[in-house]
Amino acid sequence: MSTSAKQAQRTVTLTFNGTDKILELPILEGTNGNQGIDIRQLFDKTGYIAFDPGFTSTGSCESAITYIDGDRGILLYRGYPIEQLALHSDFMETSYLLLRGHLPSRDEKQAFEQRIVRHTMVHEQLRGFYQGFRRDAHPMAIMVGVVGALSAFYHDSLDINDPEQRDIASYRLIAKMPTLAAMAYKYSIGQPFIYPKNNLGLVENFLHMMFAVPCEEYILNPVLVKAMDRILLLHADHEQNASTSTVRLAGSSRANPFACIASGIAALWGPAHGGANEAVLSMLVQIGHKSNIKEYVAKAKDKNDPFRLMGFGHRVYKNYDPRANVMRDTCHEVLASLGIDDPMLELAVELERIALEDPYFIEKKLYPNVDFYSGIILRAMGIPTSMFTVIFAMARTVGWIAQWMEMIQDPSQKIGRPRQLYIGPEARDYVSKDLR
Ligand code: ACO
Repeated sequence: MSTSAKQAQRTVTLTFNGTDKILELPILEGTNGNQGIDIRQLFDKTGYIAFDPGFTSTGSCESAITYIDGDRGILLYRGYPIEQLALHSDFMETSYLLLRGHLPSRDEKQAFEQRIVRHTMVHEQLRGFYQGFRRDAHPMAIMVGVVGALSAFYHDSLDINDPEQRDIASYRLIAKMPTLAAMAYKYSIGQPFIYPKNNLGLVENFLHMMFAVPCEEYILNPVLVKAMDRILLLHADHEQNASTSTVRLAGSSRANPFACIASGIAALWGPAHGGANEAVLSMLVQIGHKSNIKEYVAKAKDKNDPFRLMGFGHRVYKNYDPRANVMRDTCHEVLASLGIDDPMLELAVELERIALEDPYFIEKKLYPNVDFYSGIILRAMGIPTSMFTVIFAMARTVGWIAQWMEMIQDPSQKIGRPRQLYIGPEARDYVSKDLR
């Protein structure tokens, strides 16, 4: 599949006022009316840099994987609307789609699942790593460490120039993430690690490794399996967000895939990104009761108060996050199936209603994002808050790998190296200690 944008007939002319310098810049056209000004020659030809901290207007790559129209609330994986995939597909099939670019045939899907299943175990020595962490270590801290450490165990899949080794590394990462994640949880509660069972699918296996104990089998609830599958599917990719860009940047130096994914996990951890699902729950606990919502909404609007409504707002979506719609329905399904009447859900629904009617949130286009509901579902499933972002990382590993693979195979790929606008002191002479 070609990932090259077309060069449009139109160009943009940059005029440097007060000089006779002008620069004609090509316009590039992607799919769905996406367009960009190609400024790659800007620095060489003019000595100017493009200044864009936070990259709000900067495209770092061409990509054929995920498309987002934030104003219209559209999210497509390889062209397929996320709502259709959530309804008709499953996480494994969607993973194949993201990695390979097309929906698998029955045989392709089966072969893919078989490959993943064969890699669920981790090197026995890696289990020893967990003992080095405090019992109360945050599981994301453990994940950054152990996923990075995979590069010290699987030397036969580190050559990024070998397509077969890249494939094996990707199977290993997707298959081992649930095992490593469940081990982080088991370690935190002092229970023995549970080995994966290869007669179970990835999602079932994860729940089994989380909740089974050697003396008792875990009986899988199909509603929870479906809900977890959907959470993973909805989080699998989201184009050039902070963690994916981190993976690409790390990978641009030709670092090995395990190290790159560990860097993505680190970037995902922050509360402005993947850490938001954990932050939503902490916020709901902090608010405590429906009667306190108005006070907290006022705090969120107060410029002098750092408090923000977690799970609201998005850099790209200036409309309802399409994933949040699906999550909302799943949330109700799970609570009904488990017979849970959770005051947190009531609080969340009321908070959503009040915020959506508030002129501040309307004006700034702050809608609930995917994390707003995923936290409540995970809580209902008995998953501790500290594991929420880990589950997000399990899902996003597929997207990170798809994006990393795309980058490695892009002939125009270079090491990522942003420039800066230097505002420090001009060159000055060293002053010896007794003269300072
Ligand atoms: N609560 C209150 N005010 C908010 C919120 C919020 N959740 N989000 C944005 N705003 C306000 C800002 O104060 C700012 O106001 P101003 O224009 O008066 O200065 C305006 O809306 C724009 O916000 P920015 O922070 O400039 O927008 P940005 O695109 O940089 O940030 C972000 C997006 C980080 C997601 C932000 O909305 C936020 O912090 N949300 C809460 C955390 C969260 O839910 N993160 C999950 C993101 S989704 C994901 O990673 C899966």
